[in-house]
Amino acid sequence: MSEPEHARRAAELRALLQQHAHSYYVLDAPQIPDAEYDRLFQELEAIEAAHPELRRDDSPTQRVVGGVLDGFVAVRHAVPMLSIRTETDTEPSGAVAFDARVRRELALTDADLPIEYAAELKFDGLAMNLRYESGVLVQAATRGDGETGEDVTQNIRTIAQIPRRLHSDTPPAVLEVRGEVYIRRDDFEALNERQRALIAQGAKNEKTFVNPRNAAAGAVRQLDPAIAAKRPLSFFAYGLGEVQGWGVDNAALPATHSALLDALAAFGLPVSDERAVVQGAEGLVGFHAAIGAKRDALPFDIDGVVYKVNDRALQQRLGFVTREPRWAVAHKYPAQEQMTKLLGIDIQVGRTGKLTPVAKLEPVFVGGTTVSNATLHNEDEVRRKDVRVGDTVIVRRAGDVIPQVVGVVHDPLAAEGTRGEPFDLYQRLGGQCPVCSSPIGREEGEVDWRCTGGLTCPAQRKEAILHFAGRRAMDIEGLGDKLVDQLVDGGLIRTLPELYTLGLDKLCALDRMGDKSAANLLAGLDASKRTTLGRFLYALGIRHIGETTAKDLARHFGQLDRIIEATEAQLLEVNDVGPVVAHSVRSFFDQPHHREIVEQLRAVGITWEETEGTAVAAPEATGIAGVTGKTFVLTGTLPTLTRDAAKELIEAAGGKVTGSVSKKTNYVVAGAEAGSKLDKANELGIAVLDESALLALLQDQVA
Ligand code: IVH
Repeated sequence: MSEPEHARRAAELRALLQQHAHSYYVLDAPQIPDAEYDRLFQELEAIEAAHPELRRDDSPTQRVVGGVLDGFVAVRHAVPMLSIRTETDTEPSGAVAFDARVRRELALTDADLPIEYAAELKFDGLAMNLRYESGVLVQAATRGDGETGEDVTQNIRTIAQIPRRLHSDTPPAVLEVRGEVYIRRDDFEALNERQRALIAQGAKNEKTFVNPRNAAAGAVRQLDPAIAAKRPLSFFAYGLGEVQGWGVDNAALPATHSALLDALAAFGLPVSDERAVVQGAEGLVGFHAAIGAKRDALPFDIDGVVYKVNDRALQQRLGFVTREPRWAVAHKYPAQEQMTKLLGIDIQVGRTGKLTPVAKLEPVFVGGTTVSNATLHNEDEVRRKDVRVGDTVIVRRAGDVIPQVVGVVHDPLAAEGTRGEPFDLYQRLGGQCPVCSSPIGREEGEVDWRCTGGLTCPAQRKEAILHFAGRRAMDIEGLGDKLVDQLVDGGLIRTLPELYTLGLDKLCALDRMGDKSAANLLAGLDASKRTTLGRFLYALGIRHIGETTAKDLARHFGQLDRIIEATEAQLLEVNDVGPVVAHSVRSFFDQPHHREIVEQLRAVGITWEETEGTAVAAPEATGIAGVTGKTFVLTGTLPTLTRDAAKELIEAAGGKVTGSVSKKTNYVVAGAEAGSKLDKANELGIAVLDESALLALLQDQVA
């Protein structure tokens, strides 16, 4: 490049970075992936290093970018909130280079001992300064430009993990704790699900979030604390700001960073357990590799690890260069967001008939693997993000969550006419399921298009069979996921009635299927034939027909044929049946292939008692009574019962205790410090009991 060209490029990069920094820090709506921002930033740094005369005071390389949003009170930080140097070399050499730099600064030779480092995670959220005075949380502020941030105390007070008062009888007079506000990945997915539901219900001002960090930033800078409170924020402490009176003359201030984090944890602040004290470059490399290996399994996003010289006196000797301490570095991992080209949009049929648009991408290395497919969730989402074939898109893959297209990188120069067509799912499929050609439909108020093929659609076969065989449906003993996979994948059954035509010879030919299990399954199939109308109806898997509704329909009509022939108006006469259910039943039986399956099932010998029915539904026994056959999961510490004692009581009453929470769990019994099992129970909507509720339930059982 010639001289004027360098100047022109530097100016261009400054403008670009400024614009992207504004989108990122102020609007919480990034336009490009972080890795792309870093690349532009480094390009500018390189030009400025080679041509110092091109350096400008307002260059993004010269300061911490950010800004104060209208509506928050500005807070001047007592101690500036700086950032750390980022090592973008994601290989072990990145750690080696940092150690070498530190040793050089300290004038150490090979003869000197290795340096001790505190190694920790680089959380991907936003920096927060929590100010405690005499142990009480008095203020929370964002980093802002590093000198001045925003007062977000009200919003931060909604984070339950952050103590309002330090756990200490003799807290420091002033203690500023620095750390990261973030959102866990599962909380983020649940939040976006909720947002999608709100949007589907017509909420105008709602949006889905690009990634957990942006969702967290949006929540923290939400002007209405009530809204912030609904966002599932978490926090990890990693350092200090101003400190006064931590012992006389701060003499109680720990001498090492690792001891400092222990002290913060003892004050009741959340500190990540994923940290270590390591020696020298070798220790850093080991930590980087170990965390890299478990990155996907962590419940939250990290974009790297951070190394800090452990000895605080040494930190002081090393000091700072402009915006960064010399004693710390962030060592990155491969980015979890990348740009690539959208080559096409396929439509996948899910196990429940849901039609999901899937992006076909130019293969791109993101979050540690090469990705060529990513979900686009649903048609509305594609349209809202205005994603079109041929666009450059941002793909995110973090943890074991499936890769997603989070947005489009808009080329400001591209004219509207040069882009692809807006996405139209119905038109794309010509109104037909791509797997079974049944009509597709979308119910009012729902975002998802679905295949109406149900029992006949091969894509839905396995799910339909599993549901049919379930405990509350036909209760076919011995027919679980693995076997259904084998039966369907091996082409042994295509439709539900074919289940009942399986013979011993066919079954025995299956992998790992002995004579005995085959005979057991056949016996289970045989036993399932004698059932009730309610169970049979439920087993058919008609949308919106749960166990209770199925029973209500059975009791009301008494005979299957009456249900098959009932008009929507007649269906509406049934207790608790509304228009959605009535419509669903009617359209299910309107499809000839569904009637055919019902006939075939009757033909293989499935029977139930039929009655005259009753126009007035009899009151139903309440669901809660009865422990027999129910599955319990115990979590946390109960006030009086030991885990074994609780288990014994449940089993004595005919219940079962298992180790993990699933859809099949009936109750979760939670005590003090219940953890992820309780979260899972809440997520799945499973009844949670405390010890006294458990005892009451067991009492009912005996009575
Ligand atoms: S220490 C003076 N430790 O990364 C050193 N920062 O540029 C101050 N971050 O936005 C930072 N995890 O919020 C430190 N374990 C960690 C961190 C961490 C994430 C963020 C921090 C800041 C950026 C540093």
